[in-house]
Order: sequence, then structure tokens, then C-alpha cells
Amino acid sequence: MADKATLTLGGKTIELPLIVGTEGEVGIDISKLRAETGAITFDPGYGNTGSCASAITFIDGEKGILRYRGIPIEQFVNHPDFIEVAMLIINGELPKRADRERFRDKLADNAHLHEGMKHHFDGFPSGAPPMAILSAMINALFCYDQNFSDPESDESFEDSAARLMSKVRTIAAYSYRSSKGLPYNYPDPKLLYCGNFLHMMFSMPHRPYEVDPDIEDALNLVLILHADHEQNCSTSTVRMVGSAQANLYASVAAGVCALWGPLHGGANVAVIEMLESIRKGGLKPEECIKLAKQKDSGFRLMGFGHRVYKNFDPRSRILKNACDKVLGKLGVKDPLLDIARKLEELALNDPYFVDRKLYPNVDFYSGIILRALGIPLDMFTVMFAIGRMPGWIGQWKEQHDTPGGRIYRPRQIYTGPTIRDYVPMDKR
Ligand code: CMC
Repeated sequence: MADKATLTLGGKTIELPLIVGTEGEVGIDISKLRAETGAITFDPGYGNTGSCASAITFIDGEKGILRYRGIPIEQFVNHPDFIEVAMLIINGELPKRADRERFRDKLADNAHLHEGMKHHFDGFPSGAPPMAILSAMINALFCYDQNFSDPESDESFEDSAARLMSKVRTIAAYSYRSSKGLPYNYPDPKLLYCGNFLHMMFSMPHRPYEVDPDIEDALNLVLILHADHEQNCSTSTVRMVGSAQANLYASVAAGVCALWGPLHGGANVAVIEMLESIRKGGLKPEECIKLAKQKDSGFRLMGFGHRVYKNFDPRSRILKNACDKVLGKLGVKDPLLDIARKLEELALNDPYFVDRKLYPNVDFYSGIILRALGIPLDMFTVMFAIGRMPGWIGQWKEQHDTPGGRIYRPRQIYTGPTIRDYVPMDKR
């Protein structure tokens, strides 16, 4: 392939350099386009825009491939250790045993919240959305950690990553306990990452919670499958905010807000609401499919479709298999699983979905597993956020470490009124 693209505009021909990734993906570098032609590219929704070069996650949406730092996502299924994957994503390599131990100790040492932070939970009204609490509390956390982080030092950054990952888990559990009026459980340093979360969520005073290893494994797997997904909406938000040299906490707090939306991480709640409404008889699966095809209905088949995957989302395949395994092990019979399977079958045989290459995405089956683990519905997107922490942290760090980074600042094509005069109030 030529190493340049040629563009002719208004009688002028210019050459645009190409950038080629390690998997052969080609990008046309248009950074000089406006200076040389006066024109910009127009790509609403950024479907064809590469905002950065990144060495973290590779997706081939046509083939349904997802790899973290080169390792196919399927290879983590039999090694469900979220922290190992987090270290891979943040640092670039699987940790050696000593590194793993060191990071584990940092997670354990940093799991508690400053006692002052506990009072912040009292300020939220009951019924406050946990994603709002999570985002607000991550910014609050920075107020206690202001002098802590030095992104220029790898060791200090690892400390920050451990603090953030560990404390976000505690914040999540405390927001649940607070919403239910239950006493907070202090983290138990003897427990591993997921076990400690389950303990903080479900232990009751004088009735210690035994962490079930099957539940712990399933939770590790769910978090691994959410750990990174290259330049999606929330990660691009983290990078957008980070590009202004905002600190890691502020950037991640913004990412939480983006993830909250029902077209992004909030879809895992919307899927269960949709399945529930079918179970309660409000909607038949066939009607649901029909409604999703009517553009004016405003209804979409939640958990279906993806900007990048035009094939099965590999995470949904893994989660579908895991549903059978996890529910079987835990002895849970969930009617929503049958409804989900039925919807999938209907959609995959319907020309509307086939022609548009709409397949189940990560959110279609994840909620069924989270329900089986006892996680309440309004915490589902928070679980996604806990899982996505390594991705946000790793992407923020990669952006920070990339020389020549510029503030993100897209342009626009202005379509408003051309110049006109101000009209005083009494003449309007
Ligand atoms: N139900 C019905 N029609 C759909 C759906 C759906 N779930 N998804 C896409 N379409 C249609 C869309 O209307 C368009 O139709 P047409 O060509 O006739 O105008 C066509 O399929 C192509 O859509 P698109 O432009 O490729 O979609 P997009 O890339 O702008 O949006 C999406 C991607 C994920 C937001 C969208 O598929 C959707 O809304 N899905 C439901 C919400 C959901 O499950 N979100 C989770 C995404 S995966 C995890 C994550 O990111 O957090």
C-alpha cells in the first residue's frame, strides 16, 4: 500500500500521511488538512475518527475479536483474576508473582475510606442513583488525596491506581449500604478484591459473610470482561478530560457520568427492565422485536447492536455460556434467562437485525449473572464502572505519557444565523 493518501479539493491536491497499526489498521493523518485546504473532516459520532494511537486494547469488530495487550479475551475465562488483568492493562505486561503480591498489598492497605468521607453518603437523598453517588464521591476522594498522586513517577502512579481501584470498590459498597440504611462494613484485608467487595456489600454485624468461591470467580470474570474496550464513549470522556491536564480522579469521575447513559453502560439496567417487563406480561418477545424495528417507537432492543462489532461481541458469547454455568452452580433458576435466549433467537433470525449486523453485546447477558450473584439492579452500572477502572486508568496514563499530547478540541461546521444586530428588549 502507498504510504500517503491523496486528496484533491478546490483544484488543489495534497498528500496526507498514513498511520498503520500493528494489526494493519490504516488511518489517514489529517492533522494538517485545515492548514493546507481550509477544510475540516465531518464525522458526527466519530464513527470514522481515530482520536489517538493506543497499545492497550485491540478490537476487530468484523471478526468479533477482543484482546487486552494482545491476549484474546477468551484466555482469561479459565484464569478469572481481575487484578492480574488490571495490571496487564495498566502496565502492559502480566505481573510477575512479586508484582502481583505488591499490588495486592496496596489494594488491601488502601481499601478503607477516610472517616470523614463516610459523612458524605448521608448528604445524598434516599433513592439517589448510585452512579451519581459514585461520580461525586470519586471527586470527593480527590479532596482527601490531593498531594498523593505524581503521574511522573511509576511507583506513585501505581499507588494512585491501587488507591482508586480499591476505594472505588468501597465507595460502591458503601453507597449500597447507605441506600438501604445498613451499617457500613469495614474492608477485610484478608480477602481478595472481589471477595472483599462481596463482604462489604453483604456481611451483617455478628453474622459474618462466607465468600462463596463460585460467586467470587463469576464476579472476577464479569469485571475482566468489562476491563477495557478502547475508545468507547466513557474512555474517550476520560481522555477528553485528561487532555486538559485534569487529574486522574476528575477524569475518571467524568467517565462514570458517560458510562451511566442507557446507550452505554446503563444498558445493563435497561436490558433487565426490558426482560422484566416481558416476564410480567407487559410485552411479548415478538412485540418487543416489532417495537425495536419501528423507528418512531423510540424503543431499541437493549443489549443489542454495537458501534464497532458487526459480529457477535465476544464478551456476550462468554457471558451467555457463563450464565448457564454460574446459575447452574448456584442453583438459580431465572426466567429472564429463557426470555433473553428467546429474544436473541428471534432477533438473529429477523432480516432487520441480520441486515444491520445487530448482535447481542456485553450488556445482554451480564445482568442475569449479576442478579444471580445477588447484586441489586441499580448497582449494575456501578459494577460495570468498577470493571472499567483499569481501562480508564491505563488509558489516562497512556495519554499522559504520550509526548506531544494536545488538548482534545474538535471543530464544528457552524449552521446558525449569519451576522445580525443586537435588538434592544423594547424593540423585540
Ligand atoms: N435496536 C433496534 N435498532 C437498532 C439497535 C437496537 N438495539 N441498534 C442499532 N439499531 C439500528 C439503528 O437504528 C440503525 O438503523 P438504520 O440503519 O435503519 O438507521 C442501524 O441499526 C445501525 O445503527 P448504528 O448507527 O450502527 O448504531 P450506533 O453505532 O449509532 O449505536 C448502539 C450503537 C450500541 C448505541 C446501538 O446499537 C444501541 O442503541 N443499542 C442498544 C443500547 C445498548 O445495548 N447499548 C450497549 C452498548 S455495548 C456496551 C457499552 O458500550 O456500554
